Amino acid sequence: MTKVHADFDHNSPEFRADPVAYYKHLREEGVGKTSRYGGLWLVPTYEAVQAMAHDTANFSPARGTMFPPMTDRPMLPMESDPPLHTEYRKILVGRFSPKAIREWFPAIRQSSRDLLKDLMISGEPYDLSYGYAKLLPTVVICKMLGIEFKAEFQQWVEDSVYRRISDPQAANEATENIYRMFTELLPERRAHPGDDLVSLVLNARIGGKHLDDEVVVNFCFFLLVAGLDNTNFTIRALLLQLALDQNLQKRLIEDRSLIDPAVEEALRYFSPVIALGRHAVNDIEFQGCPVHKGEPAVMLFGCANRDPQEFDEPDKFDIDRFPNRHVAFGVGPHRCLGSNLARAEIGIAIDEVLNMLPGFTLAEEVETRWDDIGPLKVISSAG
Ligand code: HEM
Repeated sequence: MTKVHADFDHNSPEFRADPVAYYKHLREEGVGKTSRYGGLWLVPTYEAVQAMAHDTANFSPARGTMFPPMTDRPMLPMESDPPLHTEYRKILVGRFSPKAIREWFPAIRQSSRDLLKDLMISGEPYDLSYGYAKLLPTVVICKMLGIEFKAEFQQWVEDSVYRRISDPQAANEATENIYRMFTELLPERRAHPGDDLVSLVLNARIGGKHLDDEVVVNFCFFLLVAGLDNTNFTIRALLLQLALDQNLQKRLIEDRSLIDPAVEEALRYFSPVIALGRHAVNDIEFQGCPVHKGEPAVMLFGCANRDPQEFDEPDKFDIDRFPNRHVAFGVGPHRCLGSNLARAEIGIAIDEVLNMLPGFTLAEEVETRWDDIGPLKVISSAG
């Protein structure tokens, strides 16, 4: 029998303010349909997310992964199907491998230090959100794309992602700003290619042919948008966790090898990408439910990451958790290409704060929302 999650909306302000409050109920109902977005299947359990993400024969991201969509252009390489998706991924995969990302470690560390030094000149309390976490991933991806860093990029990305519901016009303007910036960049970059990601995509060939400019711009758009918010959200969330739990902070200060498992646990526990979707390409029975060709579905990664069928005490933040097979980066053929970069940015960002502000504590209470990364004002322990 088809279960009906009534009118559940994964974009509602109530859910976005505190998604974890809904997760148990959603998992207990299992796969079911909400009346929102023209009838959207909800995929809330760990097992069901795994099944859908791996089933590329029946579920496609090519008709859109976000409800409502962020843009009417495909976000590439994510919103494409094989065999093209396989070719698209090949273009980027070498630049995001663990080895390639290790070469970026010194630049990421230097950027972290520079941002922290600037922040500390401004005097306490230090806003580790606006003055640090929100800036670092932008600085890094600009270097990788070979474009000059502009603080407004972060705002454009936030507007594109978050204001789709509350202010679609502002969101569209922000999205168009990003497309325009890359469209205008292409002639210059074609004339003077470098070692950057824009040149990489411009020079790539599939079946012997270069990609159309529009396709190149769609790649660039997604490379800028994909990583910023999710990464800075996780940096900020983990910093907040460490400010609130001084024992945990002390453990990390004394043993830096614990930063990696802390990053993994932060990815699971805070799951920055709450939901991403697919469309059914066939009529199929999925987890006991009759899903029809063309129907949209959304995988609730955050909900799956708190599934007790996979994780003991899922609501506990536990850096000693092992194994920790979270799905924060998705799974299957579309698993996040930027995961090594994101892990490096989060880990180095935390390490540098522990170096420069050991024992930091909150200067004021902090609101935690999933849809609006507010300030995170801290003082150093000596402060
Ligand atoms: C904490 C940070 C991040 C999280 C939680 C995250 C999460 C995700 C998720 C869940 C997907 C899977 C989409 C799907 O199955 O439909 C994905 C795909 C992707 N991500 Fe990330 N991401 C992060 C950072 C980044 C960064 C820094 C980049 C690099 C610029 C990046 C680039 C991509 C790309 C290119 C894809 C598409 C892969 C494909 O379809 O083959 N991500 N990401």
